[in-house]
Amino acid sequence: MMINMLRGAISAVGLLAMTVVASAAGTVEILSTAGCGCCVAWSRHLQENGYATKLKYLPAGDLWNRKMKAGLREGLTSCHTGLIDGYVVEGHVPAREVARLLKERPDAIGLVVPDMPSGSPGMGEPGPNSEPYKVLLLRRDGSTEIFASYP
Ligand code: CU
Ligand code: CU
Repeated sequence: MMINMLRGAISAVGLLAMTVVASAAGTVEILSTAGCGCCVAWSRHLQENGYATKLKYLPAGDLWNRKMKAGLREGLTSCHTGLIDGYVVEGHVPAREVARLLKERPDAIGLVVPDMPSGSPGMGEPGPNSEPYKVLLLRRDGSTEIFASYP
């Protein structure tokens, strides 16, 4: 009886460990407005890079308020706001920079790609019309620094 219970417990632990490995990259909650296709495209980009995503649609005014509450401000916003592990990921941030953020865990609000540069993940394939863009690290004091530059 005891042995059987123990066995059950051990296989349950095994199952749990497998589940954790399968979703190792984590889940990004994405706040967006309904009908914005590039947000869905960014969500797909994250999924292709091992993240689970949870899209949540809000009225535009509510989304704006959530952004401001999260520490963003005018000039540092885009179409969607990603939330993962206590960080804000605003706009079309490449998945590899999200991974770097979660690995380095800087004391910061998160990452921002302002506006919607064409050629950034979810904004069409990189090509002749791609715009160069920067991924900014937004510090808690509101200052920013360049986290990565593309191309
Ligand atoms: Cu967008
Ligand atoms: Cu969008």
